[in-house]
Amino acid sequence: MLKLIAAVASCAVALLSTPALSAEGNAPILIKLSHVVADDTPKGQGALLFQKLVAERLPGAVKVEVYPNSTLFGDANELEALRNNEVQMLAPSLAKFEKYTKQLQIFDMPFLFDDLEAVNRFQKRAKGRQLLRAMEKQDIVGLAYWHNGMKQLSSTRALRLPGDAAGLNFRIQASSVLEAQFKQLGATAVKMPFAEAFKALQEGRVQGAENPWSNILSQKLNSVQPFITETNHGALDYMLVTNARFWYGIPHQTRVELEAIVDEVTFSVNNAAEAQNTADRAKILASGSSELILLTDDQRQAWRAAMQPVWKQFEQEIGSDVLKAAEMVNRKNK
Ligand code: LMR
Repeated sequence: MLKLIAAVASCAVALLSTPALSAEGNAPILIKLSHVVADDTPKGQGALLFQKLVAERLPGAVKVEVYPNSTLFGDANELEALRNNEVQMLAPSLAKFEKYTKQLQIFDMPFLFDDLEAVNRFQKRAKGRQLLRAMEKQDIVGLAYWHNGMKQLSSTRALRLPGDAAGLNFRIQASSVLEAQFKQLGATAVKMPFAEAFKALQEGRVQGAENPWSNILSQKLNSVQPFITETNHGALDYMLVTNARFWYGIPHQTRVELEAIVDEVTFSVNNAAEAQNTADRAKILASGSSELILLTDDQRQAWRAAMQPVWKQFEQEIGSDVLKAAEMVNRKNK
């Protein structure tokens, strides 16, 4: 009898700890969504909204778990984990796909896009849409582009002209274009996962970095960067990606519903991102941590001119068709 009670009790415990069952009696499909930034950023908010809408619209059929701040996987291993289906969704920065396609390096090209609006136009047009499928052979499917914002240069030294960066070490994402960008300035680029950036700046192993305002504030990078130059020199945007085999294995109707949710979340993230960066910029300036350096038109032109060899260096790898399509979206060509 005691054995029977113990067995019933352990069954009850097992049931309580198992996720709710779907209508067909199957356990819900689990989507682990991992990312490397804080909840209070455009990507962090997007991940939480996706989780909320899936819970409301597909209860018992799909369950989303969100892992922020590199708590499940970090920059070094997240894409391999996705390909192994150990995690089902990520939204890495577009700079982080270099190993799988060179074409997305277009987004790292310094001073190529005039502003986030131009980046947005590129992503919406045919070439941008095509790039969502550029990694399918490696089982990586792009579902959407999510904005964060344009990057700013921060440092322990005031950076007004390209030569001012010479001799400094800058933390970068793992991207050859970004490496070349700093080399062109006479600086050294140090590739490093996002999770390590604050400590490296704090300890003085690197003296500068490039980030959108939301990442500067949410990682408190401004507390160790006394100067921030508003360069808007490149995009830090994301591709929401999933594992092809996982995604196309989801029953059709459920996948259609998930795609509709992705579209809704994408709309929300992309509408809110610029406002969040503007608000975070204001918070940083109000904190008095860092001096804001604004570039004159001539200074900006000097930075842009200094970067031309980088464009040349990567034109072939990225593809001149992609580069042309990107140049077309700037304001003067709208
Ligand atoms: C970085 O590594 O600087 C960014 O890609 C982090 C992020 O995901 O915004």
